[in-house]
Amino acid sequence: MDVAQPKTGETVVVSAAAGSVGSIAGQIARICGARVVGIAGGQGKIRQLVDDLGFDAGIDRSAPDFARQLRDACPEGINVYFDNVQGDVLDTCLEHLAKGGRVVMCGGVSVLNEDGGRARYNLMRVVWKRARLQGFGIFEYSEQKRHEALEQLGQWIRQGRLRIIQEHRHGFDQLPRAFIDLLAGRSSGSQVVWMRGTDLK
Ligand SMILES: NC(=O)c1ccc[n+]([C@@H]2O[C@H](COP(=O)([O-])OP(=O)(O)OC[C@H]3O[C@@H](n4cnc5c(N)ncnc54)[C@H](OP(=O)(O)O)[C@@H]3O)[C@@H](O)[C@H]2O)c1
Repeated sequence: MDVAQPKTGETVVVSAAAGSVGSIAGQIARICGARVVGIAGGQGKIRQLVDDLGFDAGIDRSAPDFARQLRDACPEGINVYFDNVQGDVLDTCLEHLAKGGRVVMCGGVSVLNEDGGRARYNLMRVVWKRARLQGFGIFEYSEQKRHEALEQLGQWIRQGRLRIIQEHRHGFDQLPRAFIDLLAGRSSGSQVVWMRGTDLK
């Protein structure tokens, strides 16, 4: 809300939208009155976005006509793009920015294994569309701000306006698999691994 400043009637696009961060970012944008389009891998996740989380539309990033689907889903252009992945998805979203668009740079799952960035993004679009790219980092916010955010999120959850997706596994040995599946896009929402011998529930 601070960096993206989504407004009623605007179109907000979120990548890795079925993930831990993306699923919350998209729902918050919706609560702010925006029309929200989620990008995720696979039809199962797209259904989850639209049917369970109330996204207005979902697009499978592996679809051969991904760029066309994104354009069709955002006929007036993208007002806010919340980027968790960088790479080709960021490039395609830059192509469809509306005038005055904002891009929240939150993560870079597709470039985690690369040294440094690739200088092949559609950055002239940023010039032509008078857009703004801004980094977002949770640790920039004070304890007080984070406390306020948690209060607000908790209220939305209690009101049934915000849903949390979690997948649970049990045992320390499941940690690597949970992390690998998360990065490979095989899981949805937050991955919770319970340690044997603890009684956290
Ligand atoms: N700035 C901050 O304060 C902050 C805080 C926490 C996390 N983060 C960042 O936010 C991002 C999301 O974190 P998360 O924990 O919620 O992870 P996540 O979204 O649950 O998992 C990552 C997802 O990225 C997608 N993905 C994987 N490879 C991709 C590729 N090559 N191209 C496009 N998408 C790909 C997959 O989803 P699909 O297959 O469904 O697309 C995968 O499930 C990460 O980059 C993380 O580092 C930033």
